[in-house]
Order: sequence, then structure tokens, then C-alpha cells
Amino acid sequence: MTSQIKKICCIGAGYVGGPTMAVLADRCKDIKVTLVDIDKKRINAWNDKDLSKLPVFEPGLKEIIKRNRNKNLFFSTDIANTIKEADMIFISVNTPTKTSGFGAGYASDLKWVESSARQVAEYSSGHTIVVEKSTVPVRTAELIQNILSESEENSFISNIKKSFSVLSSPEFLAEGTAINDLENPDRVLIGGEDNNAMRSLSGIYERWIPANKILFTNVWSSELSKLTANAFLAQRLSSINAISALCEATGAEIKEVSNAIGADKRIGKKFLDAGPGFGGSCFQKDILNLVYLCQYYGLEKISRYWEHVLIVNNWQKERIASLVVEKLFGTVTNKKIAMFGFAFKANTNDTRESPSISIAKDLLENGANLMINDPQVLPYQIEKELCKKESKIFSEKEGSWSFNSNLNECVKDADALIILTAWDEYKEINFEKFSKLMRKPSWVFDTRKIISKNSLKGTGIKFWQVGMGECSSL
Ligand code: UDX
Ligand code: ADP
Repeated sequence: MTSQIKKICCIGAGYVGGPTMAVLADRCKDIKVTLVDIDKKRINAWNDKDLSKLPVFEPGLKEIIKRNRNKNLFFSTDIANTIKEADMIFISVNTPTKTSGFGAGYASDLKWVESSARQVAEYSSGHTIVVEKSTVPVRTAELIQNILSESEENSFISNIKKSFSVLSSPEFLAEGTAINDLENPDRVLIGGEDNNAMRSLSGIYERWIPANKILFTNVWSSELSKLTANAFLAQRLSSINAISALCEATGAEIKEVSNAIGADKRIGKKFLDAGPGFGGSCFQKDILNLVYLCQYYGLEKISRYWEHVLIVNNWQKERIASLVVEKLFGTVTNKKIAMFGFAFKANTNDTRESPSISIAKDLLENGANLMINDPQVLPYQIEKELCKKESKIFSEKEGSWSFNSNLNECVKDADALIILTAWDEYKEINFEKFSKLMRKPSWVFDTRKIISKNSLKGTGIKFWQVGMGECSSL
């Protein structure tokens, strides 16, 4: 029988759990939705009266939180009671790439998924539908099922009845457009075996998503579809970034090439913007998972095929850092360089795997003094990513970095400006003003193709753009 879902718990109140549950609560006012997290600070930030302090910056999210918080949307650290009350539990915890042990550098670290499953096993009561939402390797639902089955057996002995149905319903939202992606998804996947549980979940989605967009699959297909979707998208980016280098070498223009190929309906227009390399929490991690999976099943050549998408991505980041050094007379030691953008893309405060990290690290290693700006990223996040303390005093021997929210101060006396994230505020820069502030010869490196050549005309600033190379006659 399809159970009526009245209370939902989401374990993990991060970039996926937060927006996903906010939209769910907004669309299902009769369901009590509670997000729980082990990170007290994060929960406090979600509950902060000042909505500018929400831990996730996402256009449209503030408004949804404002109209639902403490009505049917709650944020709590009371994991035990929230799980106990819930009819349906979403697992939406972090699954980063392992840094040590077997599979280090490739496999996902599932310790947070495992501990979530153990919490569910311990605290739940009655029948609970468990939905895997985190991006996970194929066969993770099996791990969750195994942990829960043990507790089903024990509950039989102890007379406290517990039973579970495990489903996979991967999230396809992209940060920066999460609310729209959640409200109008291209499709929703529900992978599982228990038809009743699958119908209960689709009944929730159907409150706002047309039924024909809800696809039912087996669990493994659902998990593999998520990895494959991200691998295909990332592959497009490595392909266009590879062509950007060829454009720079030959005189072809990347925008003309991407327009020409995008006009072919079979290729399509989206995801053809060359850039400094892709970032974000998913693409690299999912491809590494795919590589690991192929190796596990003895598909060596296939694993190398997918790994090359990452090799090209790292190459794109490295070549940008090295061409900056090359253009600045082969050395950036003690030179001030302004970096605009630290988030991995515009409209998010997320810095995970941002191309800015490795480009900044390469320049710091070469002795540069970076002044970094980002409208949403905070200095402590940059410090964490660069593993290097912010220093206001430029050192003599090695590079240093500092954060500045004022764009003019960032470029004052700088030899170069590198644009790394396509924030709107960077699209309206007055280069005439900048040219007076910067040290000559001054350079602008536009890795996102958001600056028009015309806006630099007559300023004397030297200009490089991805997929164009050095632009002459400015
Ligand atoms: C991605 C998938 O799009 C999403 O479906 C999945 O659920 C999670 O991973 P996300 O990482 O949030 O989403 O952002 P996305 O828009 O895919 O961008 C990823 C990276 O590719 C960013 O660094 C972005 O700047 C870059 N990118 C994207 C380009 O360089 N050019 C493009 O044309 C598009
Ligand atoms: P994602 O982008 O996948 O949402 P985040 O790192 O933004 O990843 O969010 C995951 C959240 O899950 C973090 O806030 C983390 O504290 C939380 N988390 C991890 N393990 C547990 C757990 N066992 N119980 C509750 N919350 C957890």
C-alpha cells in the first residue's frame, strides 16, 4: 500500500539538501520537512533571522526560506527525534573523493553516508522510506540497505518494529540555478524495487512535476545515470576547452566555432562556453568514480577514456596560469595580480574544485601577490582552499594573497587582472578607470569571455581572452 507521507527528514543541510528541501516544503505545505545536520553552525545559519547569513547563496532561495521556515520547514540538530518521527528520510550528505586508503584519489568517501544509514537504523521506528540523494558511486544503495537490513532483523527480535525501503533519486540541480532546476526539472529519477515506496515518492514529486518527467528505473541504473550525465557534461567542457587552445593557436574564434557547432540540433547550444576549466563538487568526483568503477570491472581502456576528460581539465587550468606568467615577462615574483572570482561559477558561494584554486596556487608558487575579489565567497573559504593564511603584507620571497571587496583597490598598482568567474559585476568594469590605476604594461586575462574587446579600446591595456588569445589593435 502507498503510505501517506506526513513527515520528511533530510540528513545533510548543504548545497543539495538545503535548496531541495526548501522547494519540496514550498510545494507540499501539508508535509513537515526537517533538515538535520551534525554541523551546529550550519543549522544556526539556516535559522538566522538575517537571511543574508544563510549558508548557501542561491538566487531565489532566501525568498523560499522566508515564506516557509518554521511553518513546515525546519532546521535542527536533533537528529534522533527527527529520524524517529519521519516517514521518509533523504540522505543528502557530502561524499568527497577519498584522500587516503584504498581507492584514494578516485573512490568516494562514503563514511558520511554510512554514518547516516547507521543513524537511521538506530533511531527510526515503523516503516521508513530512505531516499539516497547524495551523488554516490554505483551500488551505494546496497550499502545502505545492508546496514538497514541488520536493524530490521534486530527489531524483529527486540519487538520494536522497523522496516525500510531504499530508493535512489539523484539530484540534477546545478548550483546558481538550483531553484529553477528543482521547480522545473528536465526529469526526475526514482530507482528502486519497492513499487509502493516508489509511488509514495513520485506522489510527492507529482505535486509540481508532470508525471511524464518522472522516470522509474532500477537502483543501479539510477545511480549510474547520475554519474553518466555529469561525465557527458564534463566531457563537452573538456572538448570545447581543448578547441579553445586550438583557436588561440590558429586564429579561429571560439565563440564562432561554438555558435556554428551549437546550431546543429544534435549537438545543441548549451555547455559550450570555453572557460578556465570546470569546477564544482560533482564533475571531477563523478568522473573519478566512473574511472574507478571501470577499473574495478577490468575495463582499463574505458577508464582511461574518461580519465582524459579530467586530464584536459587540469591542463586547461595549468596552461592559463603559465601563460599569465609568460605574458608578464616570464616572472610574477613580487608582482601584484588581481583575481576576480573565486566561486567555481557565478551565482554561488561554493568554491569546491573551483579553477581559481589551482590557478591561484600556481601563481603563488611563482611568487605572485594576489588580491582576490568575489561577491559571495568569504576570506575564510579562500584560506581553507589555498591552505595558506591570508596576509596583508606582501612578502619578498614567496607569494601571498589578500581579499578585497573593492574592485578599484584590487587593481591599484596591479600588473594584471585575471577574471575567473562570470559574475555580473565584472561584466560592467570601466577599463578606462582601471588603466589609470594599474601598473604599465597592464594586462587583462579574461578566462570567461565576458569582456568585450571594445570596452578596452584606447586604454592601452593588453588583453587576452580564452579561445581568442592575445587581442591586437586595442
Ligand atoms: C553539475 C551538473 O550540471 C548538475 O546537473 C549536477 O547535479 C551537479 O553538477 P554544477 O557543478 O552545480 O552542476 O554546475 P554546472 O553549471 O554544471 O557547472 C560546472 C562547471 O562547468 C563550472 O565550473 C562552470 O563554470 C563550468 N562551465 C559550465 C563552463 O566552463 N562552461 C559551460 O558552458 C558550462
Ligand atoms: P552537498 O553539496 O552534497 O549538499 P555539503 O557538504 O554542502 O554537500 O552538505 C552536506 C552536509 O551533510 C554537511 O553540512 C555535513 O555536515 C552534513 N552531514 C554529513 N554527515 C552527516 C550525518 N551523519 N548526519 C547529519 N549531517 C551530516
